[in-house]
Amino acid sequence: MNVLVVGGGGREHALAWKIAQSRLATTMYAAPGNPGIARVAECVDIAASDVKGLLKFAKDNAIDLTVVGPEAPLVAGIADAFKKEKLKLFGPVAAGAQLEGSKGFAKELMRAHSIPTARYERFNTYNTALEYVRVVAMPVVIKADGLAAGKGVTVCRERAEAIEAVDRAMKERVFADAGDTVIVEEYLEGEEASIICLTDGRTIASLATSQDHKPAFDGDKGPNTGGMGAYSPAPIVTDAVYDLTEREVMLPTIHALKVHNITYRGVVYIGLMIADGEPKVLEYNVRFGDPETQPLVVRLKSDLLEIMMLTVEGKLDQAKIEWDSRAAVCVVLASGGYPGKYEKGREITGIDEAQSDRDVVVFQAGTARNGDRLVTAGGRVLGVTALGQDIKAAQQKAYEAVGKIHFDGMHYRRDIADKALR
Ligand code: AMP
Ligand code: GLY
Repeated sequence: MNVLVVGGGGREHALAWKIAQSRLATTMYAAPGNPGIARVAECVDIAASDVKGLLKFAKDNAIDLTVVGPEAPLVAGIADAFKKEKLKLFGPVAAGAQLEGSKGFAKELMRAHSIPTARYERFNTYNTALEYVRVVAMPVVIKADGLAAGKGVTVCRERAEAIEAVDRAMKERVFADAGDTVIVEEYLEGEEASIICLTDGRTIASLATSQDHKPAFDGDKGPNTGGMGAYSPAPIVTDAVYDLTEREVMLPTIHALKVHNITYRGVVYIGLMIADGEPKVLEYNVRFGDPETQPLVVRLKSDLLEIMMLTVEGKLDQAKIEWDSRAAVCVVLASGGYPGKYEKGREITGIDEAQSDRDVVVFQAGTARNGDRLVTAGGRVLGVTALGQDIKAAQQKAYEAVGKIHFDGMHYRRDIADKALR
């Protein structure tokens, strides 16, 4: 088989690493990929957003399956473009990608199908939004409707912050069109967890549970990032919470997509807030999480490529999805200054030494080659991922491996997975 992986971050390295172990894969390409991905695939210089270029490459190289990592090309309709040309692609059509591409769409769908989520109001003029946040009870969460590279959500404890968030989205238009509509949402207390599911539009199958760490610093302090680390499984998702989520969220979501006449084939990522055993949906994503994918792939015993093919062919009910009973922890190593301004081009050393333990894999995110040196090229640089008998053992192994890696300015959280140990 010929496989094309679209994207070039830690998530895509994790997916490519796992696909490379498939008994089906013959040749794998990545667009644009990164130096870590280049260890298992041939990287081609096409941007993940270049739908036309990707389509041409897939045709010219007889690609049997294209696997899309990031959300933007899905929201832009890459699945529709490939479908028209009868090319197989793992990821939902644009109508389905609205689950992530429009928070208003997702909230309306949840409201219509009684899927538990925070109460909300949706506004498409500045004045109506402002009038509302002047009187609504605090705290609230203000969300730009469209894709805002993970920056469109503001948790507001004080009214002044809420007014400022509305100003930024709708008056200053810092998110451009993505902020033309805003959602003002009830603030939910609790602990977050993710259930990443696959669906072919008829069957929905969840992957193992996981938990991300969005704030930059220990103790959930500092600004939000793309994710500073993750672990799997997430003990907060007890069997009872899982069953409730299946009944009240997963199954109604598939039903809702059917009612909308959307044949959805790919990932439905369900971000939950759990309080007193009650799950509520914070968000849907239409792709794998980053870095949640890293601990998931090292625990997945089954053939990911085979599972993806079955998903795309509408035969997900035939897939066997088996997990290593051990736990996995991924610690993200970030550039100094991230998520704010940071420098690039710092030499990275110690990756091979860190990986000398067979239970450790170092996934590359923001890296580049400079001659024969590996250098930093992004905010999130590496995802050091380890398996262990339990969360504590996996955590210890991950941090031992982190200790062998160096680049100037490197920063990381020292408490990844601590929540699972309380
Ligand atoms: P989202 O992109 O909607 O998941 O929001 C990003 C982050 O903001 C989430 O991971 C939560 O930490 C936080 N958040 C979003 N919505 C809420 C809410 N209704 N209540 C509390 N925190 C929220
Ligand atoms: N780590 C959060 C996300 O992938 O959306």
